[in-house]
Amino acid sequence: MLTSLFLLSALFSSAWSCPSHDNYQSHPHLGRRQVRVDVGREPKDWTYDVSADWATIKPEYHLCQSGRHQSPINVVGKDLSTHHKPNFEGYKNVAHPGNFFNWQFAPAWTPHRAEGDVKKLPSFTFDGHEVYNIGWHIHSPSEHLIDGKRSRAEIHMVHVTEEEHEAAVIGIRLAVGPTESDFIKQLGPMIHFNDTAQLEGLQVNLRLAIDEVGGVEEFWTYKGSLTTPPCSEGLRWFLPKKELIVSEQQMVEILAASRFSHRVEQQVWLHDINL
Ligand SMILES: *[C@@H]1O[C@H](CO)[C@@H](O)[C@H](O)[C@H]1NC(C)=O
Ligand SMILES: [Zn+2]
Repeated sequence: MLTSLFLLSALFSSAWSCPSHDNYQSHPHLGRRQVRVDVGREPKDWTYDVSADWATIKPEYHLCQSGRHQSPINVVGKDLSTHHKPNFEGYKNVAHPGNFFNWQFAPAWTPHRAEGDVKKLPSFTFDGHEVYNIGWHIHSPSEHLIDGKRSRAEIHMVHVTEEEHEAAVIGIRLAVGPTESDFIKQLGPMIHFNDTAQLEGLQVNLRLAIDEVGGVEEFWTYKGSLTTPPCSEGLRWFLPKKELIVSEQQMVEILAASRFSHRVEQQVWLHDINL
């Protein structure tokens, strides 16, 4: 017992000693290897059981109830958008190192970056703005519905402006099909919702996800919000028409690592779908 405790603490202290990507790369023993570090977790003050009533938790969550264009929504009977067309040239076909973890509900990943280095991240442009990918996370089942249909899961790719304000999210619905997803495959084993470990240094090519949904050529778009408290507004959502196809085995692995995590559907009001 004592020995194993000692070993454990030695393991963790060596991992803790190289928290940032730069130190980690130059580590004499670990080199570029991936390291699992237990980062613990901060308990959340909200749950999905009461997602229709988050504004009652504290005043800072008032937008969850009073917002004018809250997410997610059900997109019903809408043609595809011809406005706000995104351009993905800035999503280079290369892998970025980042941290793979579970956001307490489903797998998630954030790229390594130095403070203020947002412009080195994969980016896309729309309406003359450039926005940068600061990571993704999965919800299960999907949050958005298309003509009332819910998918088994949805990936949210979160993008910020150069000033690091959240500005755009791509909501990619996942579905089982005849082929594996290379985007999902590169992640390796999923991290379970009860697992507080973080895999540091996992290389992820985000372009694969964009390519696997047809380059987001066909999409719906609307003005929405964060789908978790504080439900902040002012985000543009892009919902690719094409679902990201994963194999049955990949879907089972994603679902096994996830727990119920969709916010109740919001009323369409000032969302300006496709406008
Ligand atoms: C997850 O963790 C909780 C709290 O420790 C535990 O009660 C539960 O059994 C765990 N669930 C699974 C599926 O491991
Ligand atoms: Zn989300």
